[in-house]
Amino acid sequence: MIFGRVKPLDAILATAEKKGLSRSLGAFQLTMLGVGAVIGTGIFVLTSEAAQKAGPGMMISFVIAGFVCAVAALCYSELASMVPVAGSAYTYTYAVMGELMAWMVGWALILEYAVGASAVAVGWSGYFVGLMNSAFGITIPAALAVGPSQGGMINLPAVVIAGLVTWLLIIGTTESARVNAVLVAIKVAALALFIALTIPVIKQDEFIPFLPNGWGTIGVVGAASSIFFAYVGFDAVSTAAEETKNPQRNVPIGLIGSLLICTVFYLLVSAGAIGAIGAQPVRGLGGEILSPGTPELAQRCAQIVASGLNEPLACSKEALAHVLRSAGWVKVGNLIGLAAFIALPSVVLMMMFGQTRVFFVMARDGLLPAKLASVHPRYHTPHIVTIFTGIVVMVAAAFLPVGKLADYSNSGTLFAFAMVAIAVLVLRKTDPDRHRPFRTPLIGLVAPLAIFGCLGLYVKLPLVAILVLPVWGLVGLLIYFGYSRRHSYVGRGITDVPELDPDAPPLPVPPLPGAPTPGDKQA
Ligand code: ALA
Repeated sequence: MIFGRVKPLDAILATAEKKGLSRSLGAFQLTMLGVGAVIGTGIFVLTSEAAQKAGPGMMISFVIAGFVCAVAALCYSELASMVPVAGSAYTYTYAVMGELMAWMVGWALILEYAVGASAVAVGWSGYFVGLMNSAFGITIPAALAVGPSQGGMINLPAVVIAGLVTWLLIIGTTESARVNAVLVAIKVAALALFIALTIPVIKQDEFIPFLPNGWGTIGVVGAASSIFFAYVGFDAVSTAAEETKNPQRNVPIGLIGSLLICTVFYLLVSAGAIGAIGAQPVRGLGGEILSPGTPELAQRCAQIVASGLNEPLACSKEALAHVLRSAGWVKVGNLIGLAAFIALPSVVLMMMFGQTRVFFVMARDGLLPAKLASVHPRYHTPHIVTIFTGIVVMVAAAFLPVGKLADYSNSGTLFAFAMVAIAVLVLRKTDPDRHRPFRTPLIGLVAPLAIFGCLGLYVKLPLVAILVLPVWGLVGLLIYFGYSRRHSYVGRGITDVPELDPDAPPLPVPPLPGAPTPGDKQA
């Protein structure tokens, strides 16, 4: 039963063909798409978190996380080029490992996209609050600027930006290629400026000790598990496979190219941050290690600042702007803050868009109530799923700190990536002759590296983040067996479901549960 109810690949492909998108993207545009989707809160904000865990050793963390993403990306590309429809990992799994696994992946993608969007919104809020203070002298009270675990009540700016993005999505705003190009340029220029200023003033002493907390959960690998978030988003390249010229060549160039560019930027940025103001973890009064995102760390940071010392990198909510301001470049720091202020909302938009599309496809498959997939008569957008997604994102952003949200998001993403790598292996065995526009090179090595890499990072997440996945999965299973299994279209023998066209006419209402379920024969 576990691997039953496979959605036939041919049905998915037939749907994709009907969409008939023109193939216009080349390697360069794909790479830019990837860079645009990837650079965000991870480097702009979570650098502080990485410093608290790994100190200067965070440079190794960036390489580890980048490597795991690269091997996962190569697996992603094979399925993305074969099954070039939206819904990403969820759709791939449906075609290869059946409905239950697909449901679990789709359910985990909620963590990746919705919780990830909350993390970026909270990251944006840190920059907004800092910019208001540093550039305009306006202090937003802590009660309204951070969640309860950091001494506040609600993160109002994060809620507002998530609400604004929800509204933009409802009225049908998607990012045009031109807007994306401008935002990518702003982000890359900001990081390049940061590197150009900080690298020449690097102090070698700041790199010693290089591994203050060792390699463990609060150490280099633990930091890699968190900073993995900085690379999430590259799947935007995979899902653009159907619009790509010569995907065999261009998709891997786009994926690996964007990951490589980001890795180089991240390494230089972290080297600059460490060398300019130091990145040693903040310890408690007794010398104990403090975990990021905890009230203890927030208190200790407040004590350090109150004593007149400069705020350590690990305490800052706007890491890169803080480094520049602390090193004497106050105006440029504000400029970097402005760049984050302008560019991060587009990452929120992309992640929430991804989430609405996954919900939408799941509803179109009958696994979620069809009402969720209804399309707004005027805006032609799936407004119900969008509002639902917006509420989830706003509530999470209101109360949780950025690092915790990123860790929860990572636990779902790592699961989804590992499942995709397994799906590639399975499909090579079960359907070896199917045309693969892109084949993962050295699959026998790359796929296991992706699977074990994801697993390795997952087990080094903080305990709560590790537990989030099974608990979330359990809730998902209850919903699946309580609702989705009976309502599934594939389960009822209907496979030609329009995938992702909000303009498509509503589906005919399928027979009610209890009627014969031809798809069950496959189970
Ligand atoms: N990689 C994206 C970011 O860091 C999600 O914001």
